[in-house]
Amino acid sequence: YERRERLKAEIKQLLKDRNAVMVAHYYTDPEIQALAEETGGCVADSLEMARFGRDANEQTLIVAGVRFMGETAKILSPEKTVLMPTLEATCSLDLGCPVDAFSEFCDQHPDHTVVVYANTSAAVKARADWVVTSSIALDIVEHLDEQGKKIIWGPDRHLGAYIAKQTGADMLMWQGECIVHDEFSAQKLNDMKALYPDAAILVHPESPASVVEMADAVGSTSQLIKASQTLPNDTFIVATDKGIFYKMQQLAPHKTFIEAPTAGNGATCKSCAHCPWMAMNGLQAIYNALTQGQQGHEITVDENLRKDALVPLNRMLNFSA
Ligand code: 13P
Ligand code: SF4
Repeated sequence: YERRERLKAEIKQLLKDRNAVMVAHYYTDPEIQALAEETGGCVADSLEMARFGRDANEQTLIVAGVRFMGETAKILSPEKTVLMPTLEATCSLDLGCPVDAFSEFCDQHPDHTVVVYANTSAAVKARADWVVTSSIALDIVEHLDEQGKKIIWGPDRHLGAYIAKQTGADMLMWQGECIVHDEFSAQKLNDMKALYPDAAILVHPESPASVVEMADAVGSTSQLIKASQTLPNDTFIVATDKGIFYKMQQLAPHKTFIEAPTAGNGATCKSCAHCPWMAMNGLQAIYNALTQGQQGHEITVDENLRKDALVPLNRMLNFSA
């Protein structure tokens, strides 16, 4: 315990000394989220993280999340130093969408507008017409559909299927998935709902359609947190990464939040509702990023790629502005 407190104090001092600020995602460990809050940084969903990083006055950003979040920050702020606790923190959606194969898929359908989820590499973003996050995907696809556009969607097939169903848009899907959300089980959720009949069900749209269908609210992490405050229920079953419970409980201390069940459990589930890459963001790794700087922590993006990726990213940011 003492060691952790000492590390936190040192990180706080280093942030000041280095003119740095922390940008953390809701899926990181509670102590990381608390530290970001205490030091004037932010805890947010991926769209808000992008905005906060872009608008921050500090010269250095510590992005506690996964690699695509660091890359997005660098694409938007090339003049800033973007550091991550570890560059190994990736995402199954990013891994499942290599740029060469995705580009080939796009080339086969040149009359389609390419819309990619933010959970992709800078290279995949550079190939896209639009970047979207889960909080704004529905609005942007609706807008494109109204203009009569046919869409290539990648890489999350569950989020894509949800949006296609909601909007009726013509969407060709890349077949990727998030290993965390893909594991939520509708059958087990049904059993749990029987135990807590008054609970509201909150679901991130990276979950399978059968789980999304049972939801009282579907949305990005920020949207689910909002729903947990505004819905009148006292109990919530939450189908997303368990890191989100920190903020939900902080904002509504008297409410009860329960993890939605995964298909496996214990040793048999792949992620058990916690992203293994988000979990890499520990205090020691943040300390290392601040002291070792460039070595193994700095995000760089090729300048030509960055300029190409900036166009669809800015389309998203301007759309929601
Ligand atoms: P949001 O925070 O945008 O909902 O993204 C979820 C996610 O999976 C990030 O890894
Ligand atoms: Fe990727 Fe899923 Fe982890 Fe988010 S929770 S970073 S989508 S693997």
